[in-house]
Amino acid sequence: PIVTDVLCGKPNLPPNALPPYHCCPPVPASEPVDFKLPDPSEPLRTRRPARAAGSGAEEQHMAKYERAIALMKALPRSDPRSFFQQANVHCAYCTGAYRQAGYPGLPVQIHFSWLFFPYHRAYLYFFERIAGKLLGDPGFALPFWSWDVPEGMRMPLAFANASSPLYDPLRNANHVPHKLVDLDFMGAEKNYTDEQQIVHNLRIMYKQMISSASLASLFLGQPYRAGESDKPGAGTMEVYPHNTLHVWSGDISHPNNEDMGDNYSAGRDPLFYVHHANVDRLWEAWRHIRNNSFHVDFTDPDWLDSSFLFYDEEARLVRITVRDILDIEKLRYAYDGVDLPWLNARP
Ligand code: C2O
Repeated sequence: PIVTDVLCGKPNLPPNALPPYHCCPPVPASEPVDFKLPDPSEPLRTRRPARAAGSGAEEQHMAKYERAIALMKALPRSDPRSFFQQANVHCAYCTGAYRQAGYPGLPVQIHFSWLFFPYHRAYLYFFERIAGKLLGDPGFALPFWSWDVPEGMRMPLAFANASSPLYDPLRNANHVPHKLVDLDFMGAEKNYTDEQQIVHNLRIMYKQMISSASLASLFLGQPYRAGESDKPGAGTMEVYPHNTLHVWSGDISHPNNEDMGDNYSAGRDPLFYVHHANVDRLWEAWRHIRNNSFHVDFTDPDWLDSSFLFYDEEARLVRITVRDILDIEKLRYAYDGVDLPWLNARP
C-alpha cells in the first residue's frame, strides 16, 4: 500500500504558479494518531444540493456553508484548520510534496489512480467536521453541486456574489453565473442550445457511470502500489466530468487555468468542496447501481491499507486508510435531495 510519509517537502509547481509556493501543513508536534470512526450516536450529516436558486431550506444550507468558509478564512494561517491550510493540503498531495513512506524519491499523487475517490472522501470528511466545529453545529453537512441533474447544471448562484467568502475572482467569467455546464468541456465552447446541452450532459453521465464503468478499475482508476510511479490511469468519472469541470470553472486567461483548473490551486476556490461532494456522491451512486450485479469496490489490501494524513477538527494529525472510509453511514453522513435522471439517458 501507498503510505504517506509524515515529512512534507518542496512541491513541484507548474511554471508561472501563483503564491503561496509552499503547500505543506504545519509540522506536527507529535506522531499522527490512527483514525477512529465517529460515535454512532452522532447526528447524521445529510449533504444536500446547492442549487442555482433554491428553496428556503437550500438557501439556509448554503448560508451555513458560506459562514463556515468565512470562519475558516478568519483563522490564522498557522492553524491547520484554516482555509489557507485546507486549500494547501490538496496541493501537497498532488505536487510531490508528500512522499511515499519508504520511497523518498516517489510522490504520493492522489490523481490518476485508484486513490482518487478515497483520498477526496477523507479530505471532505475532515473539512466538513472542521466547518461543523467552527460553526458550533455538529450536524453541519456540505452542500453538493449537483451538475449531473438539469437543475444543478449551473454554477450555484451564491458563488458568484463578489462580496461573499464563496467568491473567487480566478474563475472563467463566461461561465458564471448563468451558463450551463458542459460536462466534457475541453476548452472550446460548444454553442449548444440549453436543451441540447442538457441532453448531451445526461448522455455523458450515462457513459461515465454505466456503459464505460462496469469494473472497479474502470470507474475508480488503476492500481497504484508502494514503490510504483504515479498516475497509472484515471477512472471514467475522474477524467470527466471531474477534470473537465475543473477546467470549465477556472480562469482560462491564466497560464494554469487557476484556481480550479490546476490541481495545485484548485482547493483555493470554495467551489472545490461542493464540486467534490458531488463526485463523492456519485461514487455512492455507482456502488448502488452495481450492487446487484457483481463485486463493487476493490478488495485488494494494497488499496484498503493505503493511508493519508489530515488534521482533524481538534487540530490533531490523523492517519486514515482507505478501509476506514468505505462506509459513509459509519462516517455519519449521507446524501439526499436529487434523483439520477441520467440512468435512462442511454445514447
Ligand atoms: Cu484533487 Cu478535483 O481534484
